[in-house]
Amino acid sequence: MSTGSRYSIAVLPGDGIGHEVMPPALEVVEAVAAQHGFAVGWRELPWSCAYHHEHGRMMPEDGTDQLREHDAILLGAVGDPSLPDHVSLWGLLIPIRRAFDLYANIRPALLLPGVESPLRDTSRGIDILVVRENSEGEYSEIGGRFRPGTPEEVAVQEAVFSRRGTKRIIEYAARAAEQRSGRLTSATKSNGIIHSMTFWDEVFHEVMAEHPSVEGRLMHVDALAARFVSHPHDLDVVVGSNLFGDILTDIGAVIVGSMGMAPSANINPDADVPGMFEPVHGSAPDIAGRGIANPIGQIWSASMMLDHLGETAAAATIMEAVRGVLGEGGPRTADLGGSATTADVTAAVLDRIRDSAPQNGARS
Ligand code: NAD
Ligand code: IPM
Ligand code: MN
Repeated sequence: MSTGSRYSIAVLPGDGIGHEVMPPALEVVEAVAAQHGFAVGWRELPWSCAYHHEHGRMMPEDGTDQLREHDAILLGAVGDPSLPDHVSLWGLLIPIRRAFDLYANIRPALLLPGVESPLRDTSRGIDILVVRENSEGEYSEIGGRFRPGTPEEVAVQEAVFSRRGTKRIIEYAARAAEQRSGRLTSATKSNGIIHSMTFWDEVFHEVMAEHPSVEGRLMHVDALAARFVSHPHDLDVVVGSNLFGDILTDIGAVIVGSMGMAPSANINPDADVPGMFEPVHGSAPDIAGRGIANPIGQIWSASMMLDHLGETAAAATIMEAVRGVLGEGGPRTADLGGSATTADVTAAVLDRIRDSAPQNGARS
C-alpha cells in the first residue's frame, strides 16, 4: 500500500463488449482509489478493429513503446467480425504480450458464493489457479503454406518449447502452489505429442525435484479437461502450455458461472514492465451493444491489477464488494441467470464499495 501514489494506466477497451465492461472497471477503481488514498491517471487508447479500418493497423508502429511508459495496461477485448481474428489479435493482443515478455498468464477459476455453477455438486467449492504459458508454445509465427491454392497445399505450424520458457512457467506455478495447498497439476499430452510434450514433462520433473514440498502430477490435457468438470474441487494450481491453458481457462470460466466472470493477469515477474490485465472472455459480438454484458470479469481483472501494483487492500475492497453483491442476491446479468444490465451490476458494486468506507470516508 502506498498512500499518495499515482498510477498511470493505459486503457484499451478494444472491441465489442470491451467498450461496455471497461467503464465499470474504471469507475470501481476510482471509487477504491479515493478510499485507499491513491490516484490513477487513465490514458485511453482507441486501438481496435475500428482503428484498423481507419489506419490500416491495430495500433501505431510505436504502440508498445507508448505502453511501456505506463504502470499497467487494462484491456477489454479485441476482435470484430469485420476483420479476420488472426489480423486483429496478432496486431494488438499478442504483440503486447510479446513486447513485454508477459510470460505468465494467471487465470483464477474461483466460484464465488451466490453464483450458480452449471455443475451439479459444488459443495466442496471451486478454487483453481491456472498458470498459462503466455510467450511461446503453440502460438508461434513459425510456419507457412506450401503450394498455396493447389490440391497439394500444405500448412505447417510449428510449436516452440524452449527450456527457458518451459522452466520459468513451471517454476512460477510451483511457487504459486507453495503459497496455496501445495498441489500442482501439469497439463501434458506426451502420449500423442511426442517431442514437445515429453520435453515439457522432463522439465516438469526437474522443477518438481527442486520443490519437494509441492505434490506434482502430470495429467493428459484431455483427461484434465474432464476433471475440471467432474472433480474441480480436487484441482488447485494447474500449469499448461499456451494453448492448453487457453482452452482450460474457458472451461474454468464457465464452471464458476460464466465466461463473463473470469479475470486474468498477463505478467512478467522478472522484469520491470507493465503487466496487462484483461478478462478471459472476448468481445462477444453476439451480445455487444445491448448493455447486458457481465462486467465482473473486467472488474476482477482491475482488482488483480491493483493487487499487482501493491494496492492489495484496495484490490480486496473490490472483491469484497463483488462477493457482497453476488452472495446476497444482488443484481446479476443474464449469463448468471439474472435480468440486470451491466449498469445495474456496476451500480450495486459501487454502492457496496461506498458502504464499506469508514464514516469519515478516509481509510489509509
Ligand atoms: P467470447 O468470449 O467473446 O464469447 C463466448 C460466449 O461467451 C458468447 O456467447 C458471449 O456472449 C459470452 N460472453 C463473453 N463474455 C461475456 C460477458 N462479459 N458477459 C456475458 N456473456 C459473455 O468468445 P468468442 O465468441 O470466441 O470470440 C469473440 C471475439 O473475441 C473473437 O474475435 C475472438 O477472437 C475474440 N477474443 C478476444 C479475446 C481477448 O481480446 N482477450 C479473448 C477471447 C476471444
Ligand atoms: C485469450 C484469447 C486469446 C488467446 C486469443 C484471442 C488470441 O482466447 O486471451 O484467452 O488465445 O490467447
Ligand atoms: Mn481464450
